[in-house]
Amino acid sequence: MIQDLIYKLAQSHSLSLEEYERLITERSEESAGLLRRLAVQERVRIYGYDVYIRGLIEISNICKNDCYYCGIRRSNTHCERYRLNPEQIISCTDEGYNLGFRTFVLQGGEDSYFTDEILCGLISRIKHNHSDCAITLSLGERSRTSYERLKQSGADRYLLRHETADKTHYSQLHPSSMSFENRINCLQTLRELHYQVGAGFMVGSPFQTNKTLAEDLKFIETFKPEMCGIGPFIPHKDTPFRDYKPGTLELTCYLLSIIRLIHPAVLLPATTALGTIDPLGREKGILSGANVVMPNLSPVDVRKKYELYDNKICTGEESAQCKSCLESRMNAIGYKIAVTKGDIIINESK
Ligand code: 5AD
Ligand code: FES
Repeated sequence: MIQDLIYKLAQSHSLSLEEYERLITERSEESAGLLRRLAVQERVRIYGYDVYIRGLIEISNICKNDCYYCGIRRSNTHCERYRLNPEQIISCTDEGYNLGFRTFVLQGGEDSYFTDEILCGLISRIKHNHSDCAITLSLGERSRTSYERLKQSGADRYLLRHETADKTHYSQLHPSSMSFENRINCLQTLRELHYQVGAGFMVGSPFQTNKTLAEDLKFIETFKPEMCGIGPFIPHKDTPFRDYKPGTLELTCYLLSIIRLIHPAVLLPATTALGTIDPLGREKGILSGANVVMPNLSPVDVRKKYELYDNKICTGEESAQCKSCLESRMNAIGYKIAVTKGDIIINESK
């Protein structure tokens, strides 16, 4: 019985690969309901009804990589490129601080302008201005030395989705210049350097199967990232994957609940992609066990250009609007935005 699998997962935080696959393949509205209730119960036990906010600053859409799914891939000549300079980034963080943000996520393509020197200067300035804030980087694959320097300058967290835990699937999503091994090595290095690490994957990406998803869940179980970003794949019109179907709200929420039960204290965002495929996607994500949202803090004139997928939301709003929009959305479902760094709670009693 699938119910027994769900109780086993809630108790032991672990299933075999075959069991994860069955949990996905044999899912029903009933199993989704049970998973959701148990996931919310765990999330409430550890984090209550607090939702953590992360101010997302999209610092550059220039990227040397050519991932087949991504709208800012190198080969997309229709993408209008931009990068923010350090002054612009600093003013985003100052504005964000005044709005109540205590975590800033600097996200961007793999843009060679952002050398260690530039980034270290930037990170130490932000930390100097706002010593009570956490800095999260999401800047792709870099060398160990680079990750080390960034950490020394004050970076606290690093988001690097593994994208898929299946090597063959990885090679179907990326050109041969990118390797699964390097991805996993980067995550391992970040862990060794004592970053709080975020992994994650898209739901419904081309060639994904319930078996590869089971491998993703096993990876999350064993690597135990502090954060896990998952959202539906959404095709972008100027990529090789333009004609593939998007991932679903239903499966994304189902997986959010499973991940909450695998790793009860994990920081789990209800992503912008989830809000893009359904007008109430982020609310539904929170009600499935997520506990983080990431309002956009980027300057309005670049938001449309940081288009990883079609129809991305929040591209016309000012930062203050985005924050208050999410605040009222969370309040409407009985949750409240927490004005804290929102670190993972590790010593929760089981
Ligand atoms: N649809 C959904 N998510 C995407 N990402 C990149 N392209 C897409 C897309 N078309 C995700 C990747 C990446 C993160 C920053 O955005 O998982 O790691
Ligand atoms: Fe950005 Fe609603 S969260 S506009």
